[in-house]
Amino acid sequence: MGKTIHRGDYRAPSHLVETIRLEFDLDADETLVKSTLEVRPNPESADPSAPLFLNGEDVKLVSVALDGRELHEGEYTLDAHGLTIPGVTAPASVEIRSTFSPKANTALSGIYASGANLMSQCEAQGFRRITFFPDRPDVLSRYTTVIRGSTETYPVMLSNGNLTTERMLDDGRREVTYVDPFPKPCYLFALVAGRLVSRASKFDLKDGRTVDLSVWVDPQDLDKTEHTLESLKRAIRWDEERWGLELDLKDFKIVATNDFNFGAMENKGLNIFNARCALANPAVATDADYERIEGVVGHEYFHNWTGDRVTLRDWFQLTLKEGLTVFRDQEFTADMLGEPSARAVKRIRDVEYLRAAQFVEDAGPMSHPIRPESYQNINNFYTVTVYEKGAEVIRMLQTLLGREVFRKGFDRYIAVNDGHAVTCEAFLKAMEEASGRDLSQFANWYAQSGTPRVTVRTSWDAAAGRLTLTAEQTTPATPGQPVKRPFLIPFPVAFLSAAGEELPVRLAGEADDPLPGTRMFELTEERTTFVFEGLAEKPVLSLNRGFAAPVILDAGLNDEETAFLAANDPDPFNRWNAMNRLLIDAVHAQTRAKLLRQPEEVSPLVIGAAAQILKNPTLSPAFKAVALAMPGEKLVAEEDPLIDPHAVHAGWVAVRQALGEKNLSAFLETAAEMVVEGPYEPTPEKAGRRALRNLALGYAHAAGSPRAAIMIKDQFHEATNLTDRLAALQMMANSQTPAKQDMEVEALKAWYNEPLLINKWLTIQATSPSFPGEPPVLERVKELTRCPFFSMKNPNNVYALLCAFFQQNPSEFHLADGSGYAFWAEMVLELNRINPQVAARAARALDQWRRYTPALSRRMHEALLSVEAKKSELSPNVAEIIEKALANPL
Ligand code: TRP
Ligand code: ZN
Repeated sequence: MGKTIHRGDYRAPSHLVETIRLEFDLDADETLVKSTLEVRPNPESADPSAPLFLNGEDVKLVSVALDGRELHEGEYTLDAHGLTIPGVTAPASVEIRSTFSPKANTALSGIYASGANLMSQCEAQGFRRITFFPDRPDVLSRYTTVIRGSTETYPVMLSNGNLTTERMLDDGRREVTYVDPFPKPCYLFALVAGRLVSRASKFDLKDGRTVDLSVWVDPQDLDKTEHTLESLKRAIRWDEERWGLELDLKDFKIVATNDFNFGAMENKGLNIFNARCALANPAVATDADYERIEGVVGHEYFHNWTGDRVTLRDWFQLTLKEGLTVFRDQEFTADMLGEPSARAVKRIRDVEYLRAAQFVEDAGPMSHPIRPESYQNINNFYTVTVYEKGAEVIRMLQTLLGREVFRKGFDRYIAVNDGHAVTCEAFLKAMEEASGRDLSQFANWYAQSGTPRVTVRTSWDAAAGRLTLTAEQTTPATPGQPVKRPFLIPFPVAFLSAAGEELPVRLAGEADDPLPGTRMFELTEERTTFVFEGLAEKPVLSLNRGFAAPVILDAGLNDEETAFLAANDPDPFNRWNAMNRLLIDAVHAQTRAKLLRQPEEVSPLVIGAAAQILKNPTLSPAFKAVALAMPGEKLVAEEDPLIDPHAVHAGWVAVRQALGEKNLSAFLETAAEMVVEGPYEPTPEKAGRRALRNLALGYAHAAGSPRAAIMIKDQFHEATNLTDRLAALQMMANSQTPAKQDMEVEALKAWYNEPLLINKWLTIQATSPSFPGEPPVLERVKELTRCPFFSMKNPNNVYALLCAFFQQNPSEFHLADGSGYAFWAEMVLELNRINPQVAARAARALDQWRRYTPALSRRMHEALLSVEAKKSELSPNVAEIIEKALANPL
């Protein structure tokens, strides 16, 4: 059993570090660090006699001195976790020399080599791999960073803050000094060195100051930085305009690297990005990439206030910065899209992701509240729950309080907590003070895990024009939480007439009809009954509009009512949701038909609903593309009591084919109509047209249309942008066409030298189906792990090939003989030796093992046990995932 850390065990730090001066002598094999800490006992510590503890992992201690006197071995203790110095009961100066090896650092935490460059990643606990320090977010210090390095290898040397001095040394090396004016926790420290080039620009802030912005990359990537820099400018402007927050630095830098564990990192003034979240041009980035890059650039920039200036007391509070900052980046993207229908499409995509990933996480062994109560390894809690559900919780607050009051609360949160390391309570308190509301029930969203189900039943009294609506909320038991208290759930209600018009929503006893439209209610009890009057006809219910609350809603609608909403709901989210529901149910029906070997037609209701949406001239192409997209197989399977990935796949294929066949001419017409002329631009309008064209081509191709096949082939060769080229390649790879191999080889030859493209190519390979007569995709994936353009040390390669295969290709991964699982176990163990954070992500692919049909479930269990058997070799990261997957469910 791994060591568990509990939220309730928090103790204030025994010592504070006012200032830290770091001196680096850079060397990829062995970098020398001299660190000088001005330390003083913390008056708020409960234990004044506690020794000074400095975390340190994989660093070699050279010497340690206290107030100028070198300590000998008996005066401190050193173990695998750090350095303990007793007797520091008054302010003191601690001077430490130590070394570490960037090249040996395959975990990519701390300072590591990325090609010939050096990069840092300190969140959550990487700083302890650079030097000895109290590595916890509630110790805030002022940093001075001196970097010395060869002008040949490290012509560019960057750290947080302002460059104050720069000089040549006698030995020919260069030395630079940075001073960061803002106290910060060590997880926000950053250092970058190498042969980098930049795209730079001045930018005028609202308050009249002019700042320097720059994006730093390898020379061959300079032509992919324009969108990054422009996104940064938009993010700065938006934070000023929407939240009144100014950039507090003279200089703001972004760095991109191909070797990075996650998306990006908000180091103060020196954000570091995974190349895939930063670099774009029409040849290497799709429309979705352009949008994502803008969103991630925004996300990291917005952290400057929600994360850096107001930071975390401890890691249990992670959602305080992440949930809030995801909410902010979602709003940023929506505002950049502008037009209401484009905003709705953004909301739909965010909810699709929440359902596909977070709802699944919350129904498995890793289920945790957005603020967990315990963890073994904090890196395992950078989850969709903490991030995406965390953002939903913030969004609910805005919905409940209204935008204006929410903004007042936000301003207050920033003003009161600036410069402090705080807990989630600080946010709720600011909102309570701004609104005058008691939010103690709302706080359940922070404490309870599991996705609430809201079940709605109605009874209609035609004579009285009265509708009685009962809403019941239940939340399933989750690990450690057998019983749940009711949540405070925002509950928007709208009624539609048979003509599709919104009706007034009037409660019994109210004198006048309110204006027609949505009315916001709140559910606070397990069961709430509303009585509505003044209705001339039985209305169709449109509930939880805009996905106001992250719940699973059973509105009790029949198929006709769902189809009615798909055709008529003026709320675009609910309209999409209804069409999506019809498609999911159609796949369920076909899956059942396959299992029972009783062929069944795909319901004409679904085909008709799809045709109506496709033809409707009032709907945007972007909306049509999301509304008609096939729901993912995993999402569908998640609703089955026992998952049979092969039956679901067969059902899925049948629905797609039927939709394509029945609406073939409409799809072909749409594909022709949606051609985008002119130079490539990733605007929402053009991106929407491309998305709809490719969706239509996909259905027509699935229906076996030779014309579609020709159009796809032509598109692959003639496309002016990656969106269209990649879509064409993917459609071919997912079909049985013999021509697909040539196209795949052609793409590989053209993309070989560009890591961003190689990763996309690998994902297409990993997620494609196999057809009778073809070898299973597993064989192909295994072969690709041995090819020269794949490295187990590169996280993007691992995500693109292995994680994509484990997580996004259920019918190929879940082979009946368990060979997919054996391969998974082998890869997890290999990754575990190289990069524990990445290994732990890959390890989660078997989380849901209990949900599968018995034969598969047993084999998954065996694979988990085979990894567990290597316990002594497992990193704490992987050990926690495996242990939780195997533990009893509750
Ligand atoms: N704080 C980062 C973000 O969300 C994410 C992050 C946490 C991270 N730990 C990391 C990124 C480790 C890279 C590596 O913006
Ligand atoms: Zn973040």
